[in-house]
Amino acid sequence: MPKPSRETTPPDAPPRAEGSAERNLARTVALLERWDKGVSIRELLDGAPADPALHNAVFTLFRRQAEIDWLLARLTPGRRIRPRLRRILRWGATQVLFADGLASAVVTDVCVGYVRRRYHAGEARFVNAVLRRLAARPAAAWAELVAAEAPEGVKVGLPDPLYRQWCRHLPSIRIAEFAALFRRPAPLIVRLRAGAAPPDEVAHLKPLPAVAWAPGARLFRVVAPGAFFASPAFRRGDYYVQDPATLLAPALMDIQPGECVADLCSAPGGKSVVIAEDLGDRGKLVCMDRTAQRLRRVRENLDRFPNATLCLGDARRPPLRPGCVDALLLDVPCTNTGVLRRRPDAAWRFSNAQLSKLVRLQADILEAAAPLVRPGGRIVYSTCSIEPEENTGQVRSFLERHPEFVLAQEKQLAHGELHDGAFAARIQRVEA
Ligand SMILES: C[S@@+](CC[C@H](N)C(=O)[O-])C[C@H]1O[C@@H](n2cnc3c(N)ncnc32)[C@H](O)[C@@H]1O
Repeated sequence: MPKPSRETTPPDAPPRAEGSAERNLARTVALLERWDKGVSIRELLDGAPADPALHNAVFTLFRRQAEIDWLLARLTPGRRIRPRLRRILRWGATQVLFADGLASAVVTDVCVGYVRRRYHAGEARFVNAVLRRLAARPAAAWAELVAAEAPEGVKVGLPDPLYRQWCRHLPSIRIAEFAALFRRPAPLIVRLRAGAAPPDEVAHLKPLPAVAWAPGARLFRVVAPGAFFASPAFRRGDYYVQDPATLLAPALMDIQPGECVADLCSAPGGKSVVIAEDLGDRGKLVCMDRTAQRLRRVRENLDRFPNATLCLGDARRPPLRPGCVDALLLDVPCTNTGVLRRRPDAAWRFSNAQLSKLVRLQADILEAAAPLVRPGGRIVYSTCSIEPEENTGQVRSFLERHPEFVLAQEKQLAHGELHDGAFAARIQRVEA
């Protein structure tokens, strides 16, 4: 049975009591400690038992971190907050300002008790003082202070490096629009898989209009996730949890049955599934990824396609013969700035250094993979980023280095209410 992807699990946590709040704080802090070591929230939650309250706490914390950090600085002038206390204060501030269900006094007690048990009494007094000051005014008053006095980036809720990057290529009205979208949970959208019977769970699903870049895809918004995931049709594998933007790259591939196709950065397999469906039972699909754990998800997703083979490897050194594929998907690692609703923590990883490093990695993957395509074949290069350096800029510089390829089509999707941001370009190798 396909697993609902964790980042689209709707935040329908019930109100919590103090015991569960303590557990929620401890789990959030444990996740944040690992996040600080470089692991993404998606990886941390993937495979763990579903915990909607934890999901809510962590996602809201990252969505609101710009304001929270600015307010914490206002409340502690001249003082450097230690990272271990900052994690706890961020959780406490998220609960006080942005969550329903827990009284501020309970939040403060939970945080203070945690710090006293784990660290020092002096640090517990500090946390107590900060959270009491925060709780002394209503959340609306703090929101007014942010709107009146915070720097522009904080007002829209973005980390400074990302805000400055967007100022370089987006008008301020777009920045505000995108930032507002990223504060809200993404809708849960599913695609009816090729060959599946027409839907009968009308009560759980609301049909969505077709998207221009994949007009044949039948998409639905899930309105009752619990009932939908328990439904026979979902358990049978008739639906795949899929944001419409992820259909752009497979559509540009224009797969024909019988072709030989490679997807070199394939995990968890969302686009591989569409390609496999387009191939039908003819042709061949090689799905590669560098990470064994993530490749296991591709295996689960492709278990019904005997013509798909999996391969653990580095796309900068693909173990395939030159000229052996008709179509190549390079859905490369990127900054994820088009999918921040689903990965709000990615906003806090963004830096110029990270962007440069990823642009280099993407260029290396393109360079190494291009020879695999036969003359007349095509590469679809794609990202879930809205940064020009990773998208149009990357494609332009590849084409400058490779006159044997021409640009056939490219599209940048900006995110909207019903889909994420994404980029895809189809680059054709000229006939010999
Ligand atoms: C954007 S995700 C791919 C998403 C996937 N195409 C899908 O639709 O589900 C990028 C993937 O590239 C993989 N990756 C990163 N560096 C790689 C490399 N050098 N070689 C192969 N895969 C790599 C990551 O593990 C990650 O799974």
